Amino acid sequence: MKIAVFVSGGGTNLQAIIDNIKSGYLSDVTISLVVASNDRAYALTRASENNIPSVVLAKKDFTDSNEWDELVLKKVLESGAELIVLAGYLSLLGPKVIHEYSNRIINIHPALIPSFCGAGMYGIHPHEAVLKRGVKVSGATVHYVNENYDEGPIIMQKTVDVLPGDTPEVLQKRIMKECEQVILPKTIRLIADGKVRIENNIAVIEK
Ligand code: GAR
Repeated sequence: MKIAVFVSGGGTNLQAIIDNIKSGYLSDVTISLVVASNDRAYALTRASENNIPSVVLAKKDFTDSNEWDELVLKKVLESGAELIVLAGYLSLLGPKVIHEYSNRIINIHPALIPSFCGAGMYGIHPHEAVLKRGVKVSGATVHYVNENYDEGPIIMQKTVDVLPGDTPEVLQKRIMKECEQVILPKTIRLIADGKVRIENNIAVIEK
């Protein structure tokens, strides 16, 4: 299965996918394209070090956002990707991409949806909000992306305890390592095996 991975930052989730391809767990998966929302993303270095084609398509560089949406779609289609994986992608996708790849876009979110998600809840912010609210568990969620952000069917979640003395950065690192980098490759495995279907807006996983 060919996938396109969308990134904006460090690319630790991209690296987790690359490592799982190399280890054999995702041996039948190929990253056909990395799409970055900005040219400073370290994820781009990870892509080039692994000979993965990449393109930078920043929405702000286009006067007409439709043109940006069309170009993103063109590049992804040309790459042959069957699935789009948002791995720390901090832009909103355009409607054409969302429509063409309906039920074929997944996102990793660094909290337990439906808590600590939606507008402004990206990167370090959900972890700050988690600590401020004093919740005792947090984690990550992989979900399908539809036109309502963070509202698509939930595929997989994993939790960690929030520990005394946690800072947002410490909690973020624990969730990235113990949750995100585990459930994102697992979800890709399930989708590649055809084991995820959507029924009444609920993702059902076959055993
Ligand atoms: C990850 O924690 C990811 O869950 C989060 O950005 C970080 C990117 O890390 N994504 C969001 O906040 C999306 N709403 P990475 O670039 O090292 O994979």
